Amino acid sequence: MTIPFKVQRKAKRGEQGMKMGNSNWMDKSKKLLHRWGHQMKKTKGEPGLPCDNSSFFSHKHALVEPGAEIGERTRIWAFAHILAGAKIGADCNICDHVFVENDVIIGERVTIKCGVQLWDGLRVADDVFIGPNATFTNDIFPRSKQYPEEFMQTHIQTGASIGANATILPGVTIGEKAMVGAGSVVIKDVPPYAVVVGNPARIIRYEEH
Ligand SMILES: CC(C)(COP(=O)(O)OP(=O)(O)OC[C@H]1O[C@@H](n2cnc3c(N)ncnc32)[C@H](O)[C@@H]1OP(=O)(O)O)[C@@H](O)C(=O)NCCC(=O)NCCS
Repeated sequence: MTIPFKVQRKAKRGEQGMKMGNSNWMDKSKKLLHRWGHQMKKTKGEPGLPCDNSSFFSHKHALVEPGAEIGERTRIWAFAHILAGAKIGADCNICDHVFVENDVIIGERVTIKCGVQLWDGLRVADDVFIGPNATFTNDIFPRSKQYPEEFMQTHIQTGASIGANATILPGVTIGEKAMVGAGSVVIKDVPPYAVVVGNPARIIRYEEH
């Protein structure tokens, strides 16, 4: 069997690393961790980043406005923008191109994939998964330059998941551990553990876990 050239090269590099001692993968990951830690410290007091809490990771190309509350170990990746009033819990992962408005509360261990905007009035409980390009709304009958007195609140309850590119109309509650299928349009409340798909989203079954 012929070993592909790429694999041979990798293997060779690995061997050299072992021999040289300081270029093997252990050392590389240590270096990366060190650099990451350093970046976390550097966020302290820098313009556009909160000074009171530096125990989260913010990519150098993310914008975290001063005043935003970010929990420990949460990671905020490139081109995300978190406004000053937002509250994000610990151990969350906020991926590239996520926008979080002021009146937004996000729990702990929440995953928000790329390209999601979270508008005023959104409440996201612990352990929620939000798929890429899912869309939330907070105004049921929008008109340019006309603002409701208060934006409608939308609740995503503990452990619920929202599939890629789903659209969630304002004011709905997505129940605990519910699953919203990719591309669904959710126009009314989803009960706990329900799996919903389609436009308008309809229940296809209940999940017991
Ligand atoms: C909703 C979902 C969880 C259902 O998965 P499943 O339990 O394996 O369901 P099945 O594939 O057995 O489909 C059941 C029925 O629902 C339909 N269906 C499944 N997902 C659908 C969707 N997103 N939109 C419309 N219909 C869908 C199927 O066509 C099937 O219909 P049928 O019974 O008439 O043939 C899954 O399809 C889905 O959309 N997951 C989200 C993926 C995602 O966005 N991940 C983000 C991370 S990258």
